[in-house]
Amino acid sequence: MRADPPIDSARLWADVMALARITDPAQPYTRRSFSPLFIEGRAWLRRRFEEAGLAVRPDAGGNLIGRLAGSDPALGTIMLGSHSDTVPAGGRFDGIAGVIAALEAVRSLGSERLRHPVEVVDFLAEEPSDYGLSCVGSRAMSGRLEAGTLSYTNANGERLADAIDRIGGAVARLGEARRNDIAGYFELHIEQGVVLESRRIDFGVVTAIVSIARLEIVFEGAADHAGTTPMDLRRDAGLAAARTIAWVAERAAVLVSAGRGYFVATAGLLEIAPNAINVVPGRARVVFDIRAEDHALATEFFAEIDRASSEIAAATRVERSRCALLSNATPAACDPRLRALLAQSAEHLGYSTIPLASGAGHDAAFVSRIAPSAMLFVPCRGGKSHAPEEWAEPDALAAGAAVLREAVRRFDAQD
Ligand code: HGY
Ligand code: MN
Ligand code: MN
Repeated sequence: MRADPPIDSARLWADVMALARITDPAQPYTRRSFSPLFIEGRAWLRRRFEEAGLAVRPDAGGNLIGRLAGSDPALGTIMLGSHSDTVPAGGRFDGIAGVIAALEAVRSLGSERLRHPVEVVDFLAEEPSDYGLSCVGSRAMSGRLEAGTLSYTNANGERLADAIDRIGGAVARLGEARRNDIAGYFELHIEQGVVLESRRIDFGVVTAIVSIARLEIVFEGAADHAGTTPMDLRRDAGLAAARTIAWVAERAAVLVSAGRGYFVATAGLLEIAPNAINVVPGRARVVFDIRAEDHALATEFFAEIDRASSEIAAATRVERSRCALLSNATPAACDPRLRALLAQSAEHLGYSTIPLASGAGHDAAFVSRIAPSAMLFVPCRGGKSHAPEEWAEPDALAAGAAVLREAVRRFDAQD
């Protein structure tokens, strides 16, 4: 009879709350990738991984990996994980819940020895980083961290490559981060939507993750005195950006009902310079976040935005100095066998599940390029995420860790 220590719900919750305290006190909950707070959070996570008996290392892509050997070294790795970085003024559960639930699932195996080695991973920079790229660690692990992106810089001019080295990666050895030994990957994540809560379903088993593209457009006009420059003589870069943002939102609202699946477009980042009350903006930079189930629709939309923003620039007497994709990840399908394992494990433990597509991006989208991958969604209150109000119930997280553990056991026995 195996020693089956229960999922320690209090320990799981205490760990989630401990990480939540490692945050920018002026803007809770903020722990931006590559920041001193992120490094502090990583050190805390490393200690928790080591206390759980995991062999811990950073890989060359900056991921923190805790490994538990299996009884059969010839078998591939069962990987669990998510991310510990946040958006600015984000929540306490997006990513973090997945890393800690994975840790708890492994800790609560107790003395049980699996045949497969098992790893718990905190992926580097899942959220769009200050360098303009998201999923940095899972791109590295899947061999999709493109050389050109390593030269992306943050506002201080630091290159992404140097930032990866600074937090423990090794860009000179980036190829070593690439994995071909992962037998299966499971990621628990809050739903970041309202379906599970509104339908009182315990878990969502993700079917697919939408494509995500980020399109950067820069307008260059002329900074001028706001009081003395006549309207018809202005070259207002801020106006061109505002008109383009409005155009994108209106066009996206039409495409949503084009009958070609899930589709959203957002202008979440807007910078104008010199950003002064009494100066006509001389420069404007906007980054659009575009998500689609049908990647061809997204590609058609990029071409439309390219045309529209060029016409808007001309009509506003400014130059459009840049219109380029910062990233463009295609949709990712979750593995049918691993999805079934999650659903059967939840049912075995007495929980309900439904299949659910993910409008949010996740590291699983990149891991799925190199290994069978599946995700388990946990309800979050009001579907709220990327905001301090983000909340998940302790019992739901503990139940999720129990489902992860059961799925790992079943996978270990099957494969
Ligand atoms: O943006 C996303 O979809 C994810 O939360 N990083
Ligand atoms: Mn997020
Ligand atoms: Mn996330």
